[in-house]
Amino acid sequence: MSERTLVLVKPDGVERGLVGEVISRIERKGLKLVALELKKVDRQLAEQHYAEHDGKPFFESLLEFITSGPVVAAVVEGPRAVSAFRQIAGGTDPVDKAAPGSIRGDYGLEVQYNLVHGSDSAESAEREIKLWFPEF
Ligand code: CMP
Repeated sequence: MSERTLVLVKPDGVERGLVGEVISRIERKGLKLVALELKKVDRQLAEQHYAEHDGKPFFESLLEFITSGPVVAAVVEGPRAVSAFRQIAGGTDPVDKAAPGSIRGDYGLEVQYNLVHGSDSAESAEREIKLWFPEF
């Protein structure tokens, strides 16, 4: 069954010119882009997106980082899209968790600057897609 996930290329990925690389990997996997936008993130959207991390020691720096420059937001669709994109992205920590061959494993070094975000469940995807693409 087809499902949807929200993908972000974070400010570090955009700044480093990795948008094409991320999109290319999504398409090569066989997933489809059904919405795509370059967006400057305001504080309110950042707080809502990362609400589950409120209170964690890295919350404030995470908000500063995600609002520091444009991000590319996409809705990606396909069979098991949530897990499929998380496989492409690799684990949250680019060195300890992400396998070589994944986006974070190939391009990342630090957990905060981990290049991409993918929804962690179908329920999160639904909530996040409503936030980022209210008209969708
Ligand atoms: P993401 O998948 O977008 O979801 C939450 C983000 O918080 C995560 O990717 C990382 O960028 C960030 N994050 C998680 N753990 C830490 C940490 N220990 N220090 C800084 N940032 C973190």
